[in-house]
Amino acid sequence: MGEALLTSQILDGKMMARRVLERVREEVSDFQKRAGRPPSLTVVRVGDDPASRVFVGRKMKACAATGITASEEHLSETVSLDDLCRLLRSLNQNPALDGILVQLPLPSHLPVSVVTAEISPAKDVDGFTPANMGRLTLGTPKLAPCTPLGVVEMLRQGGISVSGKHAVIVGRSSIVGKPLSLLLLHMDATVTLCHSRTPDLDRHTRAADILVVAAGRPGMIKAHHVKEGAVVIDVGINRIGDKLLGDVAFDEVSQKASALSPVPGGVGPMTVAMVCRNTVLAAGQRLSGLCDGTKGV
Ligand SMILES: NC(=O)c1ccc[n+]([C@@H]2O[C@H](COP(=O)([O-])OP(=O)(O)OC[C@H]3O[C@@H](n4cnc5c(N)ncnc54)[C@H](OP(=O)(O)O)[C@@H]3O)[C@@H](O)[C@H]2O)c1
Repeated sequence: MGEALLTSQILDGKMMARRVLERVREEVSDFQKRAGRPPSLTVVRVGDDPASRVFVGRKMKACAATGITASEEHLSETVSLDDLCRLLRSLNQNPALDGILVQLPLPSHLPVSVVTAEISPAKDVDGFTPANMGRLTLGTPKLAPCTPLGVVEMLRQGGISVSGKHAVIVGRSSIVGKPLSLLLLHMDATVTLCHSRTPDLDRHTRAADILVVAAGRPGMIKAHHVKEGAVVIDVGINRIGDKLLGDVAFDEVSQKASALSPVPGGVGPMTVAMVCRNTVLAAGQRLSGLCDGTKGV
């Protein structure tokens, strides 16, 4: 240990997201000139989960700020799988619509994998359909999941190189950990993916040059989990009372990491910005005829 402890560079997701949205605004304007209309997104929300309402609101607001036309389909908690799938098929067929996003979580009677598979891959701005996950696995993604993209963009804007680094991810979900492991692998990191059955978690996390935590366990990553000088990205969002906490014990880890993302104001805003970026990307791909959104791919 050196005499002076490191104080982390704070990876400011709000500021980085603003930069992404500025660029998206330009791309929206280019698209509008070519297509004669702005890119468009429909967000499908089922039930009245308060967190989902907040997240959808943020996505709609960010779209509006970039010039993307965004609308919401709000369905009752008790909507049937058939009715939800029928709605998704009609959105797939709408030629004026570029992006479709189903806000998760869904009520337990609606299986996420079945619902996701109904979305046309060309309009799948969340990147969760089997076709888009398959392309990501093969290293040829068209639309990749937004939170992992947000983490990668945060590393890029933070000036943190990935190639040759050991990236350790805690959490293997299909929306964060698994797709992020593929993105980082394709960027030439050596990737370790940990989960709840990983013995000696701290042995793995202490080996990380880049540690990404997406477990949904408030404050689980302490200073002793982190190598001196590591980059730590906290994806966790945990509501405790009226506070939002990440999965990383910020104060103690900030004395050890070289760079650290805060919660709130870290990966959350980046995810929202990536929804907008994926929408304009999907719109552009459809316009260039790379994907026909009405048929799926
Ligand atoms: N910032 C954002 O934009 C954003 C976006 C999405 C999610 N999130 C947040 O990120 C967190 C994770 O979300 P998610 O949807 O990926 O959650 P999830 O589906 O519940 O997955 C959690 C993952 O963490 C692993 N895990 C849980 N406890 C662990 C432990 N003690 N040690 C090691 N691994 C452990 C689980 O292992 P098993 O697979 O073995 O169960 C699972 O793979 C949540 O706090 C969520 O709110 C944030």
